[in-house]
Order: sequence, then C-alpha cells, then structure tokens
Amino acid sequence: MPRIYMDANATTPVLPEVVEAMLPFWNERFGNASAVHGFGRGARGGIEAARDQVAKLIGAKANEITFTSGGTESDNLALFGVLKPGDHLIVSEMEHEAVLQAAEYLASRGVAVSHVGCDGNGVVHAEAVKALMRAETKLVSVMLANNETGAIQPIRAIADVAHAGNALLHTDAVQACGKIPIDVAELGCDLLSISAHKMYAPQGVGALWARKGVEIAPMLHGGAHERRKRAGTENVPGIVGMGKAAELAKVWMADGGSDALANVRDTFERTLCERVERITVNCVGTSRVSNTSSLRIEGVSAEELVISLDMMGLAISGGSACQSGAVEASHVLRAMGLTDAEARSSVRFSLTRHTTVDDVMEAAGIVADAVKLLRSVRQQL
Ligand SMILES: Cc1ncc(COP(=O)(O)O)c(C=O)c1O
Repeated sequence: MPRIYMDANATTPVLPEVVEAMLPFWNERFGNASAVHGFGRGARGGIEAARDQVAKLIGAKANEITFTSGGTESDNLALFGVLKPGDHLIVSEMEHEAVLQAAEYLASRGVAVSHVGCDGNGVVHAEAVKALMRAETKLVSVMLANNETGAIQPIRAIADVAHAGNALLHTDAVQACGKIPIDVAELGCDLLSISAHKMYAPQGVGALWARKGVEIAPMLHGGAHERRKRAGTENVPGIVGMGKAAELAKVWMADGGSDALANVRDTFERTLCERVERITVNCVGTSRVSNTSSLRIEGVSAEELVISLDMMGLAISGGSACQSGAVEASHVLRAMGLTDAEARSSVRFSLTRHTTVDDVMEAAGIVADAVKLLRSVRQQL
C-alpha cells in the first residue's frame, strides 16, 4: 500500500543532513554545555553555532535567541514572560492552543484578555486589533501563518498598531518559519516563536526570539542557562539539529523551493477540484504558506475521511494535530465564519518539501475514491 505523508504541519521528517549534524553530540561532544572542561566547551560550541544559524534564518542577533523545548514553551514564555496581573493581552481567535490556553490561564491570574476575530479568509485585520487596544494593553499575540489554513497574517500592520499603543507584539511563527522568508526587523515584532519539528529537525526543541531590550521573566527557575531566561541543561543534539535545519531552510527558500512547492500544492487542489464535486479551498482568497491546503468537502465528515485515507495509505489531518481525537469543530474555521457542519467537513493536507507532483496526483485519486465511497454510504443511511 502506498504511504503518502501529507501532514507536515503536524510534524516533519528529520532531514539526513540534520541527523548527521546531530550525531557527534550524543557520544563525542556529549559534555554538559555549562561545564568548563573541553567536553563542555565542545557541546557549548554546538549550541552557539546553532544559535547563530537560527538567528540568521530570521534576520536576528544570536544573543536574542533563547532555546526552549518547542513551540508551546516558546509561546508560553512570550506570554508569561511579559505579562503580569492588571495587564491587558490581545490574542487572535485562531491562535494555536499554545497561545489560547496560556491566555486562558493568565486570565485566571488577573490578566485581562481580549480576542480579535478574523475575516472569512482567516486574516486578522490591524484595525480590528486597534479597536481592542486599551491603556493597559501590554501584549498583542497574532500568529504569522495559521497551522490549519496556512493563511499569512499582516504582522507588520498589527505590530504598528501595538506599538502605537505602547504594547509589544508577539508572533507565533511556528508554521511560517522555514516556509516563508522572515526578517524580524521588517515584521516589526518584538517576540517570535519557532519550533524545530515543523522545519525538518527533531521534536522537543524550539526557540523564542526576543528583541534586545524586551525583558522576559523566566518560567523555569534553576541554573543560569540561556542567559537566565530558561533554566535547565540544554538539549544539545536537538538544538544542533535545529540550527542545521535553519541553515538548510534558508538555502531551500533561496533556491525557490517554496514557489515550487506552491505549484505542487496548487496542482493538487486543481486536480482534486476537477475530480470531486463540491470541494471548497479554505482561505484561497489570501496569501498562504506554500505547503498547506485546507479543503471543505461537502457530504463527508473530516474524522471519517481521515480514517479512510489512512487505511488507503494517505496520512492527513482533520484540523490541528494537537486536537486530533477531539470532537469539537476547528476553532480556526469557526472563527472564519464557517458553520459547525462546514468546519466538521474540512480537512488539512500539508505537504513536505519533498512531496512531488506524482505524490499529489496519486493522493488526489485516493481522496476522490474515498469521498465517493463516504458520500454513497451517507446517501444510503
Ligand atoms: C502554530 C503553532 N504553534 C505552536 C505549536 C506547538 O509547537 P510544539 O509542537 O513544538 O510545542 C504548533 C504545533 O502544531 C503550531 O502549529
């Protein structure tokens, strides 16, 4: 049975070059990076090289990068690190749970939280953020690209609004980093979250970039690691892998990889829409990251389709992977104004850098067969 993987927004395979870069850090350069001896210095060198590589990917300075355990921790550190009771936080309705749940917890601890909506294309507008700004607004958090739809947000304009009100702007760039070029100065943000496993490096490692001068209080207390912003012995192989992946992502984008992938994704959407009736591409009216395709397929349940496709050798997601198994309709699609039924019949295809036209043609055939079957079963009920 073919095994086609189209769930890269859940996680990506680790690139062979990344594995190779990590290997020495398990058994040769295995020292504790805080140790002063040569073994420690060997590990420290790996971390600092990676810090440089990650910084270069986003146009930042290396000493502004704090390594974490992943996107969730980076998002939490951005919010918890900046806000205190009495402050006001604005988050968008279609943020990842890593931001939404952190905001909910902060609300229970005396931080006022407002949610800004988005339009039918999944785009948050700066004017809508402006309308929610208050004198106490300390932080605005809007993601750079949405994990379910791929919709890219106008972060520059939103940052301008935040700054005009003396607030900071955090952007969750977990689904954008390594897919679109990022320059933190151009984006105008103050804090930016990244996760390694969405960019062909291992799971369980990430980074938070904080512009020089932005104070973040640590969440973890212990040693003086990461300039006292994140205590705990560093995951050296993971960090080294993330650095290598950042370097490779830069090359991939410079070589036109992202545009080529957008063509593959568009071929997939076109082919599927030709072969199957009553399919709508969510967020087609706005800029999306090149690997993501959110499709609404009338007359099928996303859950049933995901299971059927898995049995037919195609791995996709019914929404964000972190919510798989949950029966609730996607909060992202609901925020865009889709009905509960429309959201429940939407699925996400997310291509890896290595997905080919042959893969998507085969995938389109599999999806067409599965939809035909599921619709006919429904008609008989
Ligand atoms: C937009 C976004 N933010 C944050 C996260 C969480 O990242 P991690 O899995 O590294 O904790 C994810 C993961 O799916 C994501 O898509």
